[in-house]
Amino acid sequence: MVRGKTELGPVNCLYPLPTTLVGVNVSGKPNYITIAHVGILDFGSISLGMSKTHYTNAGIRENGTFSVNIPSVNMVRQTDYCGLVSGKKVDKSAMFRNFYGTLGTAPMIHECPVNMECRLVRTVDFPAHDVFIGKIENTYCDPAVITDGTVDVNKVQPILFSMNDRSYYRIGARIGRAWEIGKELMRIALRY
Ligand SMILES: Cc1cc2nc3c(=O)[nH]c(=O)nc-3n(C[C@H](O)[C@H](O)[C@H](O)COP(=O)(O)O)c2cc1C
Repeated sequence: MVRGKTELGPVNCLYPLPTTLVGVNVSGKPNYITIAHVGILDFGSISLGMSKTHYTNAGIRENGTFSVNIPSVNMVRQTDYCGLVSGKKVDKSAMFRNFYGTLGTAPMIHECPVNMECRLVRTVDFPAHDVFIGKIENTYCDPAVITDGTVDVNKVQPILFSMNDRSYYRIGARIGRAWEIGKELMRIALRY
């Protein structure tokens, strides 16, 4: 017992995470899967934690490519749907306007404001999950979500997901600039 704390056991509380639609060609046809367990490993690399039961995994192995698409809040129904039904039973290839980039085999979603096409560089074999690690080869985005030459999350309006209450959220207001807002404390600590 720790005073002032409720002990939960080993519960992963690293939510919210952005909800993504991962695009993969399976047997030559686009399939889209909803994936929230995405990670940034370094600036150019993305990890996907994907249950071995999914239809999509075989396509990632087959082509060595996948795309990570970021839907906006107005796509929440389609995004949830892609996480409810499997490509084993339902054809999800015509749900969106598909396009391909430089890799040629990673289908992307025109309606999503941000699309990253990735080349598979490593697969980590967990007991129930494949962790696919991809190197981002190219990124595409809707010019309407760019501010001062960079992707503006306020314009993207990503769908945030929390497993704690199995719910979707939207982002709130910016509270400060990174590597800036702590400078006052830094000056006090370093006495300048
Ligand atoms: C919000 C949401 C997030 C999800 N995140 C993941 C995830 O990170 N990893 C995973 O293996 N499955 C995740 N799923 C489940 C898959 O999207 C779902 O089982 C999907 O239907 C599998 O599609 P497929 O069989 O066509 O590959 C998520 C589902 C939802 C609704």
